[in-house]
Amino acid sequence: METPFMEQHESDAALVDEVRTGLQQIPKRLSSRFFYDAEGSRIFAEIMHTPDYYLTRSEYEILDTQKADLLRLFTPDKRSFELVELGAGDGLKTKILLGFLADQQADFTYAPVDISGDALDKLVADVQQQWPDLLLNARHDDYFNALEQLSEESNARRIVLFLGSNIGNFTPDEAIDFYRQLHDRLQPGDLVLTGFDLQKHPAIIHAAYNDRMGLTRAFNLNLLRRINTELDADFNLAAFDHYETYNPESGEARSYLVSQKAQTVRINALDMAVPFDYGEIIHTEISRKFTRAQIEELARQTGFSVTGWFTDCKGYFADVVFER
Ligand code: AVI
Repeated sequence: METPFMEQHESDAALVDEVRTGLQQIPKRLSSRFFYDAEGSRIFAEIMHTPDYYLTRSEYEILDTQKADLLRLFTPDKRSFELVELGAGDGLKTKILLGFLADQQADFTYAPVDISGDALDKLVADVQQQWPDLLLNARHDDYFNALEQLSEESNARRIVLFLGSNIGNFTPDEAIDFYRQLHDRLQPGDLVLTGFDLQKHPAIIHAAYNDRMGLTRAFNLNLLRRINTELDADFNLAAFDHYETYNPESGEARSYLVSQKAQTVRINALDMAVPFDYGEIIHTEISRKFTRAQIEELARQTGFSVTGWFTDCKGYFADVVFER
């Protein structure tokens, strides 16, 4: 595992790059990849429990009520397999599966992969405490590096988990590239289980990103606070607002920060002055919502076939199995 110094150093360089280029574009943009400092991760954990953010509850229900069917798909012949989780985070939902697999005495290794060393260390400690006999192979790494190394180490069937609608934060081209890269690194018969948020009444989606408790607002604004802290900037958080749109034609929820007045922000670490007009936006996030036809097309375009389709009782969310 890399040292905390390396992790700090790398993430600083990426943030510097993002802020320098993103705030000079028209329209201004900053990637949602930078939401997740310690405070951002804390707020996101709260969002996952808020009544308006249905995604986590829906996926939890799917995994909880359909775990036996999932296990039959994972290992119809009871052979050993490797459960690789990309972007494992706190593993909240995965723990439902782990508990069930352990009870069923399934023969598997759990390989959580995360670029956040802190999140991974916590998850590993947690899993070891709950299931001391479970075989663990945690990777503090980039998704594709980790997959390559895992392929070299064993030839067990690989089941890749990519839960929580993280795929929705990719552009369409990034999503295609992601599955193509997975395809290149997996063997025939390996599986990918992805959590997709489905298109539904636009008002339900809009409310999930504009929650009554103001958590999404705080989550979005936290990006400016992070830049203040890490790059010695002077964003006045009270002079920016959170604004959300959902376009039911494109299936994209988009988050913006809006300047509430004409102002200039100084970013001292970059020796930059960034002017904002009244009402000017910074685009910060895309959260895409999918139709079944789009998901099937994504599988087809990237060389996978859809072999499992699991939804919650409201049909809000789908955990979909792609087979290589
Ligand atoms: C992590 N990701 C799938 C979340 C989403 O729904 O796009 C992040 C999030 N943004 C606002 N609320 C939650």
